[in-house]
Amino acid sequence: NAQTETSLTIKAANNQIISKHIYGHFSEHLGRCIYDGFWVDENSTIPNKGRIRLDIVEALKKIKIPNLRWPGGCFADEYHWRDGIGPRNLRPKMVNTNWGGVTEDNSFGTHEFLELCEMLQTEPYIAGNVGSGTVEEMAKWVEYLNFDGVSPMTAIRKENGREKPWKVAFWGVGNESWGCGGNMTAQYYSDLYRRYATYARDYPGAPLKKIAAGANSDDYKWTETCMKNMGRQMWGLTLHYYTIPTGKWNAKGSATNFDENQYFTTMQNCLRMEELVTKHSAIMDKYDPNKKVALVVDEWGIWTDVEPGTNPGFLYQQNSLRDALIAGTTLNIFNNHSDRVKMANLAQTVNVLQALVLTEKNKVILTPTYHIFDLYKVHQDAKYLPIDFVSPDYTSGDKKIPALNVSASQDETGAIHISLVNLDPNKKITLNTVLEGLNWKNVTGQILTSAKITDVNSFDNPNKIHIVKFNGAKKSGNKLSVELPAQSVVVLELKN
Ligand code: AHR
Repeated sequence: NAQTETSLTIKAANNQIISKHIYGHFSEHLGRCIYDGFWVDENSTIPNKGRIRLDIVEALKKIKIPNLRWPGGCFADEYHWRDGIGPRNLRPKMVNTNWGGVTEDNSFGTHEFLELCEMLQTEPYIAGNVGSGTVEEMAKWVEYLNFDGVSPMTAIRKENGREKPWKVAFWGVGNESWGCGGNMTAQYYSDLYRRYATYARDYPGAPLKKIAAGANSDDYKWTETCMKNMGRQMWGLTLHYYTIPTGKWNAKGSATNFDENQYFTTMQNCLRMEELVTKHSAIMDKYDPNKKVALVVDEWGIWTDVEPGTNPGFLYQQNSLRDALIAGTTLNIFNNHSDRVKMANLAQTVNVLQALVLTEKNKVILTPTYHIFDLYKVHQDAKYLPIDFVSPDYTSGDKKIPALNVSASQDETGAIHISLVNLDPNKKITLNTVLEGLNWKNVTGQILTSAKITDVNSFDNPNKIHIVKFNGAKKSGNKLSVELPAQSVVVLELKN
């Protein structure tokens, strides 16, 4: 029953909006994300529409995913879009050299991805190939997707069954160009970016939001070089950062078998996102004080060792309560930096890394991470509310991290939503909250927690961790008091 106490002040909105695109997702041709994930065999008995699995679509629609990134990741810089259009039996096969060396039959290509986006009612975010593709190849893909007139590419599109353009807006110019996307220097990439971006045209009614391949983790020089050289030519600049439990790429740590020490280190690593976003934003502020260029964290999440017995190239990992606490914390960080962070994509949607959905034949699991996106969807496109507080410490030996993280917003109906994460597995937190200049009468809430930080939803017990009603928040006078249980995520709704 150990507990700590703190005070919070939540202030009225200014004009800052938490973009819904912070709640974006990522689906790469990697392991079982597309094939044996979204996309089933031709003769599958799993309910599907045109081979797209319907139970996954329904689950993702419920959490209102605002955008979906595709086809990679590293795969994007080896992907040649023309191999993925036209009759499927005529499409050439390729080797997926990045992920397990498996043969890719190109049966899931441009039309299939955009059909999936239409079913999900989500915006596509396509990453074009800079590493091994040509300027012409990228330019023609954009023409194929977005032009509504008479042209060689639109003629092929129509032959392939699509009359009208899709008007794709989010356009990635390469991926991890410092690594799997070509091992380039920042200077070389920015020169190439200018060239590729020039010919990725804005067609009438279909302006592109061009997104440059940004920094790996704390590579601040990369951000500096891109802002200096390409600042005016991009809508967004990316940042990739993964939470590795041990901090070591060669032995990352298990997804399910970890002790409190490793949990603490994992959370320390997760909280590094705050520092990275702050420092990259400060560099962007120097070149773009009016914050026109978005910081796009289009790969984030926990990356552990794969589940024993699975293909190491497929990056399949289980998802525990720890993952939910990471998701809640990271989304709070993004909400609180929504003046600069306008888009983010969790890696990856199905069966890969910090997945929302895991599948095994006809079964699906909605992971603890999925439930966080369900709880937090109330923040999408809502007004950001600033918060002042000092977090109690969560200590481990002589080390400490903030136990509490919070973000808040107000939606168009006036309802206020506060998302609270208590990372401490041993102590609850009592919160005394004042809301300045905000009117409310009633509070209700929902909570995600479980007995152990290692708890998971499994195919035998798929609902072990799920959202339940939270009764620990009360109005007393003008104040809101909350008893926030250990290792939990709570989202409160305050209404008039
Ligand atoms: O998400 C898995 C991989 O991580 C992506 O393909 C790549 O961009 C990153 O290194």
